[in-house]
Amino acid sequence: MSIFKIAKIGNPVLRKKAKRVNSEHVKSKEFQRFLDDLVETMRDGIGVGISAPQVHAGVRVIAIENKKNKRYPEKKNFPLEIIINPEIILIDKVFEEDWEGCLSIDLRGLVPRYCKIKYKGFDRKGKLIEGIALGFKARVIQHEVDHLDGILFVDRMMNFASLTTSAEYEKYWKKKEEH
Ligand code: NI
Repeated sequence: MSIFKIAKIGNPVLRKKAKRVNSEHVKSKEFQRFLDDLVETMRDGIGVGISAPQVHAGVRVIAIENKKNKRYPEKKNFPLEIIINPEIILIDKVFEEDWEGCLSIDLRGLVPRYCKIKYKGFDRKGKLIEGIALGFKARVIQHEVDHLDGILFVDRMMNFASLTTSAEYEKYWKKKEEH
């Protein structure tokens, strides 16, 4: 397995709309290896999510996982999920602001996201995935799907006053409580 180089904000690849994956392509050795490397890159960067454009691949694939992540210690854990051609279906207009970071941006900021979403797509075997996500997991899915449309979390912020470097976030803003 190998670790990809992560594209940083300013790289045009992060602003392009990614292309849907052809279902026949999913089972190829090459694509399966790409998925393994994508997950490995997310874990190496201590991310809770990653999207293909962040590793310079313009395809609609995201991976999410929160396994005692030290960058988000107060957040609920969720297992690894690879979602190919993910779609979000709005089922509730209630939203909340919370802190987000990104492997492509060394900043944190408060971002409004829907608290509850329905999502669907395909897993790495080409099987249909459908689920309801709440809270932090819903937030991570919305953040990663935005990447597939060239949207970064800073574009979603309502007020830039909360924009903070990662170091200043740790020092002044990190919360300890579980929620
Ligand atoms: Ni991101």
